[in-house]
Amino acid sequence: METIQKIKGTHDILPDTSGDWRLLEKTIHRIMQRYGFQEIRTPIFEATNLFARGIGQLTDIVSKEMYTFEDRGKKSLTLKPEGTAPVIRAFIENSLGEKRPINKLYYISPMFRQENPQAGRFRQFHQFGAELIGSPEPFADVETILNVLDIYKSLGLSSFTIKLNSVGDENCREQYKNALRDYLRPRLSKLCKTCQERFESNPMRVFDCKEAGCIAETEAAPRMLDHLDQASADHFEKVCALLDQHQVAYELDYRLVRGLDYYTRTAYEVVSNALGSQNALGGGGRYDLLTQELGGKPTPAVGYAAGIERLLMVLREEKLLTDNSLSLDVFIASIGEKAQEWASKTARLLRDNEISADMDLLGRSLKAQMKEANRSNAKFALIVGEQELESGQLTLRNLQQSEQTEVNSADLVGAIRKHLDAKFK
Ligand code: HAM
Repeated sequence: METIQKIKGTHDILPDTSGDWRLLEKTIHRIMQRYGFQEIRTPIFEATNLFARGIGQLTDIVSKEMYTFEDRGKKSLTLKPEGTAPVIRAFIENSLGEKRPINKLYYISPMFRQENPQAGRFRQFHQFGAELIGSPEPFADVETILNVLDIYKSLGLSSFTIKLNSVGDENCREQYKNALRDYLRPRLSKLCKTCQERFESNPMRVFDCKEAGCIAETEAAPRMLDHLDQASADHFEKVCALLDQHQVAYELDYRLVRGLDYYTRTAYEVVSNALGSQNALGGGGRYDLLTQELGGKPTPAVGYAAGIERLLMVLREEKLLTDNSLSLDVFIASIGEKAQEWASKTARLLRDNEISADMDLLGRSLKAQMKEANRSNAKFALIVGEQELESGQLTLRNLQQSEQTEVNSADLVGAIRKHLDAKFK
């Protein structure tokens, strides 16, 4: 019979790597807590118009990449392609802004985009992200940047660059877009088809184009940073000054416009020096108008999201992952039915006492059981046959160091704990 395979662009996280995920998630929870961010979990799917309105109809994500389907009631649903719009939906729906003026929320979640799979680009991928809702202050922008950097630092990562830009706000962006259109109009025929199409709707996206022709044509184009109004310019200057004070290095990048429409003012990306073309480890920025656009009260906000698969790729590449596979404390190898019954009871006793234990479930030979114990990466094997049951003296073999001692069945838990503490703590 034909076997069924996973969907293109998705991955199984198998036991040999799930330990790396646990380590990463533990680090993220720890650092988020250190910053006063609280976890939020939103559903995997949402009403489609949340993303259409939130991210923008004309973005690649909404126009080409969403997993959208109708449920049986003919309601259009979409698997979440990103976390910010859902978090803001939940923020509004649960009146979180009325409960406290600042909400610091974070998430770790799968996301779904129907992109062409390649190294570092998948259809189901995972992000961790932080959203700081309620403050217009540059301090808030910097807080989110420091947060993601601390997560990377805690994992030992240092080979990345922070790119920074301001994309202006409603008071200066339209004027700037007109200036940009004026510059591009006589050069339109030299731009690629996609850039030509975006010329009217969103000319700033030309800066994101990777085509050599488009890059060359926009080298001397007017830049948003030179067209900010006073308030946005002051805001950006303060963000830069604060980063300087924190001795956080960054590069100004006038080409950084981001692929989602909700950004205002600060935009940033963390780019890895160890990845290929999909080198954005994470990205974010300020989105002061999104809450209002989704039907809430005007509420300034800033945040970021970062890809977990890409982070793991870099950590692996830089040999920053140690062996995180779980090991077992004790494997009980038994000979004969009576001993097997004893093993079953004893495994339960050990587990009740926080000692991880496993036993043979196939009635195998002692040799095969010892092989299984090694395969489980067990610290000790407890070997028991009828004779041992009668005498109460059992063999405890340290599998990592190939030594063995006798332990008495009367105080097995105490004896095993003593050996675990002596050898493995
Ligand atoms: P984004 O730039 O679309 O931003 O995604 C953030 C990160 O998710 C990327 O830098 C990348 O590491 C990872 N990522 C995106 N697409 C894929 C993919 N197909 N495969 C693997 N990894 C991917 C956002 O999603 C915004 N919600 C960030 C944000 C939060 N802005 C404000 N708050």
